[in-house]
Amino acid sequence: MADKFYITTPIYYPSDKLHIGHTYCTVATDTLARYKRLQGYDVMFLTGTDEHGQKIEDKAREAGVTPQEFVDRIVEGPGGVKDLWKLMNISNDRFIRTTDDYHVKAIQKIFRKLYDNGDIYKGTYKGKYCKPCESFWTESQLVDGKCPDCGREVQDAEEEAYFFRLSKYADRIRDLLENTDFLEPHSRVNEMIRNFIDPGLEDLCVSRTSFSWGVPVDFDPGHVVYVWVDALSNYITALGYGNDRYDDYDKGWWPGVNIVGKEIVRFHSIIWPAMLMSLGEPLPKKCFGHGWLLLDGGKMSKSKGNVVDPYLLARQFGVDALRFFLMRTFPFGSDGNFSNELLIQTINTDLANDLGNLVSRTTAMVEKYFGGTLPAERRYEKAQDDELVALAEGLRDRYEQAMEHYAPHKALEEVFKVIQRANKYIDENAPWALAKNMEANGPRLASVLYHLLDATRICGILLLPFMPESMEKLFAQIGAEASVQTWDSAKTWGALPERVTVTKGENLFPRIDMEKELEVLAAAEAEAKKAALPAVEVEPQLTEQVDFDTFCKSDFRVVKVKACEAVKKSDKLLRFTLDDGTGTDRQILSGVHKYYEPEELVGKTLVAIVNLPPRKMMGLDSCGMLISAVHTEQGEEKLHLIMVDDAIPAGAKLC
Ligand code: MSP
Repeated sequence: MADKFYITTPIYYPSDKLHIGHTYCTVATDTLARYKRLQGYDVMFLTGTDEHGQKIEDKAREAGVTPQEFVDRIVEGPGGVKDLWKLMNISNDRFIRTTDDYHVKAIQKIFRKLYDNGDIYKGTYKGKYCKPCESFWTESQLVDGKCPDCGREVQDAEEEAYFFRLSKYADRIRDLLENTDFLEPHSRVNEMIRNFIDPGLEDLCVSRTSFSWGVPVDFDPGHVVYVWVDALSNYITALGYGNDRYDDYDKGWWPGVNIVGKEIVRFHSIIWPAMLMSLGEPLPKKCFGHGWLLLDGGKMSKSKGNVVDPYLLARQFGVDALRFFLMRTFPFGSDGNFSNELLIQTINTDLANDLGNLVSRTTAMVEKYFGGTLPAERRYEKAQDDELVALAEGLRDRYEQAMEHYAPHKALEEVFKVIQRANKYIDENAPWALAKNMEANGPRLASVLYHLLDATRICGILLLPFMPESMEKLFAQIGAEASVQTWDSAKTWGALPERVTVTKGENLFPRIDMEKELEVLAAAEAEAKKAALPAVEVEPQLTEQVDFDTFCKSDFRVVKVKACEAVKKSDKLLRFTLDDGTGTDRQILSGVHKYYEPEELVGKTLVAIVNLPPRKMMGLDSCGMLISAVHTEQGEEKLHLIMVDDAIPAGAKLC
């Protein structure tokens, strides 16, 4: 029976639509899960959503729906979390939602068990709380008085609460971090020790009473379980711990590997192991803390309006190209700067030029010179062939070495060394020159093309976890049947049948016109930004009061437009000649040309304030001001002159 391998992503907050940063984390975990399956492991890959907490409760209230309706829409609805993972070809075996009934009940059992064994006690919570991160902090952990994770303001918080005896586990956690390979990359160990262990671990507040969207503590109604205790436990409840929805927990799946982003390493490498220690359960095999995808050097965030939409990129470039880019470009443990240019450049260089060309040139030549099927007769030439063969034969080991160390970018680097070497091999052996004398060189030409096909096959197998759909197409083109697409056969040179038949097909990775595509992306991004803006916004009302006498000093009158024209050399100003009821024309200049053509205003009945001191504008006197209403619509300012009933005579006073 195959060995079991359990791997997880963090479970996502469905407070907003997911962006490319979330996609990065899930694609990486999917790639690792597919790699383990390719190796022959029986893999359980879990992802899901973390649906409780004050942030969700607040957002639901703003949206005028219940928290459950709110999360249902983002998780299950069109364009939601599940849709995105389907689009990105994520091969998760299970999807947990922390609002699932079985999970909620299991959390209540876990909380009670921690309480019963004395590791949870009741006290008063005084400290700082970061609402967006749903994290408690002590004064000493704040950076410049702000949340050390997101840099935002924190609030004072004081309430009756349950506490988890995290401090009790400080020595064991230090030992785990310092003396085992539990947490990787190693730089994260130093961060944890320096920032959290060395200053001294304090007990952790694990219940709240100030909001209700959470798992209720069953023995103390009014308290809900701290969202991180709820969320972290998903890794075991999804296997059946504390519930009978699943029964895999004791069947060799646990412990597994937790892949997480760097900002939540603290929860996964300190709090989570301490909880498991208290429960008396085995610790995860590994916690790998990957870096962030940055935009212009900063973190992507919906509130900053700088998120990159994975739907858009997948539509423009294809799912596999996007998956590949994410894994190829950014060293997994470090931060990386995302840009559309880099994405297009990577696709063009690696996929269109190197891999795509190798496949299309080779299959085209097999068709052209041999009608699509290679003959059996061959001529191996040691001096020419040994290097490529050795490089391709050793590839699987080098790749495995990198993947086992959570370095998919290095694994891809190795694959592309072989692809590049194969392209060079084409030039060195010049098949087109050999083809000029088929009688003498036919066997050599067949040998050269076979080498190219088999090297491509080996690379294709190892690229399967990264680009599953495209590699299926590649195998069909180079004539590789299922039996030679396996992990074992990736180490066997010459596994393709001697008389292999190719089928030249569509171009796997068409070249992208950088300039044109950047324009398309910029337009789509601008459109999306606009659509995300609130439809209509009005300025907040002033809170400062004005006394009645002051108000009465402003003289508002009804005026009729006798004439209106654009002011020369100004693209904003219109010059109004107005009947204000005094018998003498009044001139007012108003910057409304963006909104009105002068002709359409003649004859209209408007409102003006008439006792403002005259002002000179573009050399003309403006005696008063026309009154208008302003608001913002999808980020754009809109203005409407106030027009009143034409039956009202000029000069009527507004009061
Ligand atoms: N709900 C918690 C996780 C609970 S796990 C028991 C959470 N959710 S999240 O939606 O905010 O983030 C999910 C994952 O996406 C995290 O690993 C986070 O690091 C990752 N990313 C979010 N933005 C990211 C980037 N810009 N770049 C890379 N990964 C980032 O945290």
